[in-house]
Amino acid sequence: MFSRFRTPGSRNQSSTELRLIAQDAALEVRAALLQAFRSEMKIDYKVDLHDLVTVHDQQTEVKLREFLLSHVPDSTFMGEEGGKTGEGPVHWYVDPIDGTSNFASGLAFWCVSIGAVFEGEIVAGVVYDPVANNMFSADLGGAYLNGKPMRSKAAAEETRATLITGYPVARDFRLDGRQQSLEDFGELANTFSTLRRPGSAALSICHIAAGWSDAAAGFGVNPWDVTASILILEKAGGSYKPLTLGKVAAGSPNFMCPGYVALGHGANYPTLMRVANRISERRDKVAMTA
Ligand code: IPD
Ligand code: CA
Ligand code: CA
Repeated sequence: MFSRFRTPGSRNQSSTELRLIAQDAALEVRAALLQAFRSEMKIDYKVDLHDLVTVHDQQTEVKLREFLLSHVPDSTFMGEEGGKTGEGPVHWYVDPIDGTSNFASGLAFWCVSIGAVFEGEIVAGVVYDPVANNMFSADLGGAYLNGKPMRSKAAAEETRATLITGYPVARDFRLDGRQQSLEDFGELANTFSTLRRPGSAALSICHIAAGWSDAAAGFGVNPWDVTASILILEKAGGSYKPLTLGKVAAGSPNFMCPGYVALGHGANYPTLMRVANRISERRDKVAMTA
């Protein structure tokens, strides 16, 4: 399969194969996740009380890992819960449940996120929302919602637009200072017509890709959160601006960057870009002096 990536004319076909395998993997875990959702579950905490995990995160990741590595044996799997397994030219970045705190509390905004990278380029992505049964996907040929081509569209001006952002959370208070973070948040809340904090970076970015919201911004994401949705958004006609936030070198691949601004097609939002760049530059400066 991988040699074809290097053959002109066959790249798209190979990326479609990976997209379909990723879709099948997501569908494979659907029933168990739906059964677990809104049932009694034990909640554990990772870094702090804001960082939840359930047995379903781990169990789902194991199933996805087995599925993907058995269908594409020559690949490397990187999951949020279990880290890296396998070795091969296709790199899977997988979040078994993005939006765990929503999943654990019974709020229906969470998803399975599966991205595939080949030689540094995102070549396939699947974000699956089992509750709504929405399958967002993309390969090198385009973006799809439930198998149909998907196009993003956004309000031209930010004063008419809906912005999704989880900023700030407690971690941002520690990094940026409480007062500064709240000032930045206030500027966004004042400028945008609507500001929402639904949780799940992957599903939020896919809402921009579908034209259901206009922009999203995040300041603490990992490759398994965003790899799939970056391709979905870009192939739907939106744009993704990575932010280094003092954590990765300038010019790093967009899916490795810890921050982002995701814009729907036609969006031109100067306040959002100014605030996001300000947060990123502030953290770059702190990292340089550390
Ligand atoms: C988190 C969610 C959240 C985002 C965080 C992620 P998790 O993932 O996507 O919306 O703001 O940066 O870590 O913990 O629910 O998988
Ligand atoms: Ca996540
Ligand atoms: Ca997760």
